[in-house]
Amino acid sequence: MSIEQPPKPVTYWDYVGTDALLDLQKPLTDAHDEMQFIVVHQAFELWFKLAIYELRGAIAALDSSDVATGSRLLKRVSCILRTALLGFDPLITMTQQGYAEFRNALRPASGFQSAQFRMIEILIGIPRVTGSDGNERFYWESAVQAGVTFTHFMEKYHQQLLAMYEETRDRSLRHVMLRVTEAATGHVGADAYRHLFNHRDQFHELTSLAETARDLQQAMLDFRLHHHKVTVFTVGEHAAGTSDAHTGNHPSCAGYLLGVIRDRSTLFPELEEALGGAQAGDRG
Ligand code: HEM
Repeated sequence: MSIEQPPKPVTYWDYVGTDALLDLQKPLTDAHDEMQFIVVHQAFELWFKLAIYELRGAIAALDSSDVATGSRLLKRVSCILRTALLGFDPLITMTQQGYAEFRNALRPASGFQSAQFRMIEILIGIPRVTGSDGNERFYWESAVQAGVTFTHFMEKYHQQLLAMYEETRDRSLRHVMLRVTEAATGHVGADAYRHLFNHRDQFHELTSLAETARDLQQAMLDFRLHHHKVTVFTVGEHAAGTSDAHTGNHPSCAGYLLGVIRDRSTLFPELEEALGGAQAGDRG
């Protein structure tokens, strides 16, 4: 008769996977500052992973009209991104000289190739845009010149991102949020939000959802503003990036990033339109 062994007690290191996690930092050079560069990027990717998970949860809840859960999970996404943003601070302590010691070894890789950042944008609801040749594409496809930074990224992730886009075409955060607001107010598009904001006392949960979505939009903008700041501090305003993707159109990498800030800050256009004229436009 075999005697059953007591189950092995759970340990912190197995549960968290510390051995595997702490074995993932593999600098390409001996430069002192490269370790923090890798750790900061890895920490961002972990936060992105959680943001995607919670964003999917929020969308699923809203899609089944559970506004309270959707709103709570969306608040969490916003909180996660704001926490992740603090990760830029240690990078700003790096001097241009400190970065220059290992920067060339990273070419032609770039944060441009972060697929999870693109997934967050897709889940939030960025549209594909029609180019001058009549073809639809993601804005990051229009922004770049041909080059290996871009082609490597497209080879590895384009199909996956496209599939995600198709899957969420009418189920992105922007779409499901608008749908529940339209259903509750009986108005369509920006008018639904106008009605909401003019009758806040009747729609507490939905108003709070819309405000949380605006906070998420600000958190994404804050990511870009902090990111631009770290670029100016660590490579300067006029330097080219490590990638070969943008230098043709945009002489400096900081200039490219400013262009994205200028063009991509509105994530919920109906909501912003409503807030531009909430009183005047309300017909409800
Ligand atoms: C010293 C620090 C950093 C520098 C100098 C830097 C520089 C740049 C530059 C120049 C670009 C423009 C695209 C290109 O030229 O390829 C870019 C894009 C990007 N980087 Fe960074 N980056 C830094 C840190 C980070 C960190 C910590 C993250 C966190 C994940 C990150 C994520 C991204 C993302 C997502 C993009 C694409 C942005 C967009 O298209 O809006 N970067 N980065």
